[in-house]
Amino acid sequence: MSAIDINIEDARSLFPATGRLAYFNTAAVSLGSTALEAAYTTLIDDWTRSGFDFARGEQAGENARAAFAAVVGARVEDIALIPSVSAAAGLIASQFGPAERGENILIGEREYSSNHFPWRMLEHKGYELRITPFRNGGLEPDDVAERSDEGTRLIAFSAVQTASGHLTDVPAMTQIARRVGAWTFVDGAQAAGALPVAHYLEDIDFFVAPNHKFLLNAARGMGYCFINRRVRDSLVPTCAGWKAGAVPFDSFFGPEMTLSPTASRFDNSPAWMAAVGDEAALSLFDRFGPDALFARNRQLVSELRERLTDVGISTDVPPANESTIVAIPIGGEDPGTLLERLSDAGVVCSLRDGHLRAAIHFYNNADDLDRLVSGLRGR
Ligand SMILES: Cc1ncc(COP(=O)(O)O)c(C=O)c1O
Repeated sequence: MSAIDINIEDARSLFPATGRLAYFNTAAVSLGSTALEAAYTTLIDDWTRSGFDFARGEQAGENARAAFAAVVGARVEDIALIPSVSAAAGLIASQFGPAERGENILIGEREYSSNHFPWRMLEHKGYELRITPFRNGGLEPDDVAERSDEGTRLIAFSAVQTASGHLTDVPAMTQIARRVGAWTFVDGAQAAGALPVAHYLEDIDFFVAPNHKFLLNAARGMGYCFINRRVRDSLVPTCAGWKAGAVPFDSFFGPEMTLSPTASRFDNSPAWMAAVGDEAALSLFDRFGPDALFARNRQLVSELRERLTDVGISTDVPPANESTIVAIPIGGEDPGTLLERLSDAGVVCSLRDGHLRAAIHFYNNADDLDRLVSGLRGR
């Protein structure tokens, strides 16, 4: 299916808020769909009338795991249910024992804190933290290569930077990590569901995304972590509970402990409501085809960039680092006034790091772009 095959009016009708809003805030939280509404309404009705069906919640979690795997192009056995980026980073950070001489961890200076603070804790175990400044809005491979050596144990970064939209050259980062023997931990919060990641997934070690942005369930509570099978067996599932068992419903009590042979041995107990929501939210990717949605996102974001150029607004990120997030310079206007003026016109964006952040998702259309750009013209 190509982008042209998508019935966009159909896609927009699934997100009723698109009728009123030009919504560019998916990098914060996604819009709600009628699929999500139906799933939650049914769940609450059934719960109220007959009690909570937690087996249904469990099944929804498994279906959501499989749906996420399809969106990112992974095998379902390689996906763990870990609800947040910071929890996944904490799990991996907990694998590190006391540092030996020269051991270090390389992270970005302005990285989102969920992929920054957990690694900073490793300083207490003696690791040197090589905190690398951003260039072009994110981590550049040359800077990482310069600061890494045989003592580097892990390189952490975002696939797409939340504030600038800088798309990291993940294959180049992977090569550096492989050369020095380091793990790669990729925060996919702003990439999963927005653009393709399958082409590099097998080359990295960890890729994690929470559900509330481009994965379409703003209520949060679930997240997904790809754990490369290359490293899986060397990891200790430090948060294992019943859900990490080979058969979770048969794993309620010790001393018997038979953990799952797959990445689900790293599962956290799922939030059942979130699971039911994710099952519905992620079904939309299957409905349109992830590749078609990614292509549409690419097309829309390049149209937005063209329109910005037409009105004399240039962005700072080089073409090779462009993603579905556009950080727009604010100019001389007071940021709060600008945001309010856009909001009065039904245009929803965020301010991040001194820029107006506009995030594209497939439910945007050309009219949304017009509304944003004409709102900016008044700057
Ligand atoms: C780049 C990035 N990483 C992670 C998160 C969320 O982190 P966590 O799942 O730990 O709350 C966000 C935003 O919520 C983000 O923008």
